[in-house]
Amino acid sequence: MNRKTKTIVFDVYGTLFDVHSVIEECETYFPQKGEVISKVWRQKQLEYSFLRGLMGNYHSFWSITKDALRYACKSEGVELSGSIEKSLLSAYLQLKPYPEVEEVLERLRGFQLAVFSNGSEDMLHPLIEHNRLQSHFSNLISVNGIKRFKPHPDSYLYALDQLGVERHEVLFLSSNTWDIAGAKTFGFQVAWVNRTGGAMDELGVEPHHVLQNLTELMDLRRNYV
Ligand code: LAC
Repeated sequence: MNRKTKTIVFDVYGTLFDVHSVIEECETYFPQKGEVISKVWRQKQLEYSFLRGLMGNYHSFWSITKDALRYACKSEGVELSGSIEKSLLSAYLQLKPYPEVEEVLERLRGFQLAVFSNGSEDMLHPLIEHNRLQSHFSNLISVNGIKRFKPHPDSYLYALDQLGVERHEVLFLSSNTWDIAGAKTFGFQVAWVNRTGGAMDELGVEPHHVLQNLTELMDLRRNYV
């Protein structure tokens, strides 16, 4: 973030919303296996987006999210019936935002705010609207518009084209290190939201900023505006 920052763009899953807020729902159907199913579900959701990108066989993130859930249940030896699948997928459209999200978005009024996600529109809109956060954002940008998943550079270029600013005027926040590496390589200012105290991946890129949560964005803002 610097004096030129005009637009703040947020990754969605893992950054604004806790993907593991589905553990409770998973646990009701699969006692003692809720956590492992949620973890494998997220791991495979990301893996499948990377693999489909490399194969040139794009499917929407919603389709991939369904496939990843099916894999997670199969790998844990549990039966995913149609009704359980429907219930778990609808829980994905109602993920919980992290506790500081609404207050931080409110305090950032004055900046253009947007979300940019691998999530397809049929995931993003219900999720943002369910949590009544849509009024904070000028744009809800999905890679589905260009059919290229992050961290492909074309995806960040597509997002930039929607925002009408220069790439150095964008501060991009993500909890995903691969997303931070892709966005910085593309030319955004980047802040890694490192909620778990993890290590940055060895991708030859260091984030401009590292935050423990989004509240720390306000300290950054004080330094520059
Ligand atoms: C997103 C996931 C991949 O793009 O974090 O929101």
